Amino acid sequence: MSFRILGTGRALPEYVMTNDEMSTIVDTSDEWIRTRTGIAQRRVCTTESIGDLAVQAAENALQNAGIAAQDLDLIVCATIRGEYFSPSEACVVQKRIGACCPAFDVNAACTGFLYGLDVADGFFARKRVKKVLVVAAENVTNCLDWTDRATCVLFGDGAGAAVLGEGNDLLAIRMESHGNIEALNIPRGENTSPFYQLGSQRPVLHMNGREVYKFAVNAMSSGLIQVIADAGLQQSDIDYVLPHQANQRIIDAACAKLDIPKERCVTNIARYGNISAACIPVLLDEMNRDGRLKPGNLLAMSAFGGGLTAGHCVLRWSKEG
Ligand code: UT7
Repeated sequence: MSFRILGTGRALPEYVMTNDEMSTIVDTSDEWIRTRTGIAQRRVCTTESIGDLAVQAAENALQNAGIAAQDLDLIVCATIRGEYFSPSEACVVQKRIGACCPAFDVNAACTGFLYGLDVADGFFARKRVKKVLVVAAENVTNCLDWTDRATCVLFGDGAGAAVLGEGNDLLAIRMESHGNIEALNIPRGENTSPFYQLGSQRPVLHMNGREVYKFAVNAMSSGLIQVIADAGLQQSDIDYVLPHQANQRIIDAACAKLDIPKERCVTNIARYGNISAACIPVLLDEMNRDGRLKPGNLLAMSAFGGGLTAGHCVLRWSKEG
């Protein structure tokens, strides 16, 4: 027993920040950002908390699934940084939507939603749950060095969610971690203990973009090839690839190594930039709601990010329109 997707949801902050506005903050240009990344704009939290986005995405997914919050048996929230060290963001969501089930966070950076699906799959396999909410919510703009043009232009905020029920639609899933602190990190920040003698770093994102780029192209292409084979499928069987939305060039380079037509690799990076773990569920919800997804479609998902982590899965879509 694994699961099937019963419903999806998303929530984006209202504020749209264009590349032109970005160029008033750091020394960059719309032309550089578009040609190097494919990003035209991103959503940035102003009056919304990460909890507001997570709750809205969760409620939209529950409504789409036709499920009440009280029917959930588990909530898994993927986030790099919730509102609190404690409670977890999943517990914040649980309280605010009125659920009464176990809830916890997973942190696998941009790969978090796929890690969340794999965790949920284990609960289904052990018959501990019948309905699970996996929500990915990110406020990356709160973790950026807004003077570093090499990183601040890349990211945005948002949340995406999926409600899972019993089924057999997860055909294969692979998780990877390649521990690497230097390539991408966000330090914890100040230590409040008067006894602590080690220094502290600002809690902002540091990244070696070129190193992550190389890792990403390789992880995405080899991971997809392997997971599609694990599912007993040919690459040509895949209807849509939903890749992590970090850089259009990464997606193009990875997909060029596959035997899958480029048009089947779906992107929305131009509108949102990189929203970390929320990229894939936001994309999935857009495809669900605009009628692109048809029962029987085979979806391949692939993500990579801080850790360094990567994850890949193949899912059958069986939800009726
Ligand atoms: O979810 C996972 C998170 N991260 C990623 O996936 C990021 C992976 N890496 C990338 O997407 C790319 O490496 C970047 C988009 C971050 C950078 O693209 P690049 O083609 O690797 O550029 P680069 O770092 O080699 O920089 C090229 C030039 C440099 O100038 P010089 O040294 O050639 O004079 C940079 O200083 O571009 C400059 N540059 C910029 N110029 C204008 C870097 N950022 C900017 C900017 N605007 N925002």
